Amino acid sequence: MSDASEVLFEITKAHLNTGLRGIPVGTVRTSSVDPYKGLHYVGYPVMDIWEVGPEAAVYLLLHKELPNDEQLEEFTADLASRAAGLDSSVLDLLKHLPKEGHPMEWLIAGLNFLGMTSKTGDFREDGLNVIARLPQLVAAIFRVRSGWGDPIPSRPELGLMENFVHMLGVPGADPANLTKMMRTFYTLHLDHGGGNLSTFTGKSVASGLADMYASLGASMAGLYGPRHGRANQDCLNFLRTVGTSDPDEVEAFIRRRLANKQLIFGFGHAVLRAEDPRATIQYALGHQICPDDELFKTAIAMRERAVKVLKENPKVSNPYPNVDAISGTLLQAVGLMDSDFYTVLFGLSRCSGIAAQIIDERLNFRGGKGVAIYRCKFIAENQPHRG
Ligand code: MLT
Repeated sequence: MSDASEVLFEITKAHLNTGLRGIPVGTVRTSSVDPYKGLHYVGYPVMDIWEVGPEAAVYLLLHKELPNDEQLEEFTADLASRAAGLDSSVLDLLKHLPKEGHPMEWLIAGLNFLGMTSKTGDFREDGLNVIARLPQLVAAIFRVRSGWGDPIPSRPELGLMENFVHMLGVPGADPANLTKMMRTFYTLHLDHGGGNLSTFTGKSVASGLADMYASLGASMAGLYGPRHGRANQDCLNFLRTVGTSDPDEVEAFIRRRLANKQLIFGFGHAVLRAEDPRATIQYALGHQICPDDELFKTAIAMRERAVKVLKENPKVSNPYPNVDAISGTLLQAVGLMDSDFYTVLFGLSRCSGIAAQIIDERLNFRGGKGVAIYRCKFIAENQPHRG
């Protein structure tokens, strides 16, 4: 970044109205996405780092280095004490929300309730508080909206995801597998470079100096859409329509859909040009925790046959599975049956990465001055001068 006059990208008219696809906008220190090697957290391939677990991964995104044992203990204790500060009126407010609302609408409302009850106005403080308190908020959203009962009192000393699973109290679930899944899911979904829609939206809103909670609420509105975070929900519902795990029948199903110009959910990505390592890790986890689950077997057949069929079309730039191809399958296998909630689980994790990026943009970049208010240029079209 030393030579300010270096040309990074030539913009032509063909780039207009493409959603800024591939156009550099700023810098990011938390993570990067290589088209072939996939997600890296602060330079570490996610494939090598995911087993450090949720707290160490969040620490890495915030501090740009992995914690030693002492730092991890201190950070985990800090999060636990922040979690205890959640204003209980937030959980009461959830009881008044309409059950018809999508869980993501509840999450957006809940983030604003957190802001209204406990914001400090300091991006770092609010970021840490929201990371610590979101497990309680999201567990309460599950319980109240699903009619499972009142929120279960928090035990933050258990750890971020262990406490989350405890507070969910999922009827009939195996807590060991659910915890393994949630630790993996949370660690893998924290961050995905600087330019995905929810992250970009959150940082843009924060650049106008709205507070952390409002910024994250806006970012979650971005995540809510079916082309972004809600794809995991749609992908599971798609897999449920396949009705077979026999590879030949799955292939016939894929060919029928393509002939009818219908989508194959969970394949392809805006940036990736190889299998998403977040998917690779979860396929391997599925072989451990739910090898005999019918839908898991369907997902495995889909991984093999969809890639084969999609590769036959030279126009398909990425025929490989992305993270959504498998995450919903594992979530239902460990007892989280209602796919409407899957994007909220994505948001629970992604808010931490976005908070880390907002802290960098507001407090660290440009020698501490922060990134300027986002103000890009749109070229007037069909607007002849009439004055
Ligand atoms: C993500 O994790 O945010 C998604 O893969 C979408 C993206 O990176 O554009």
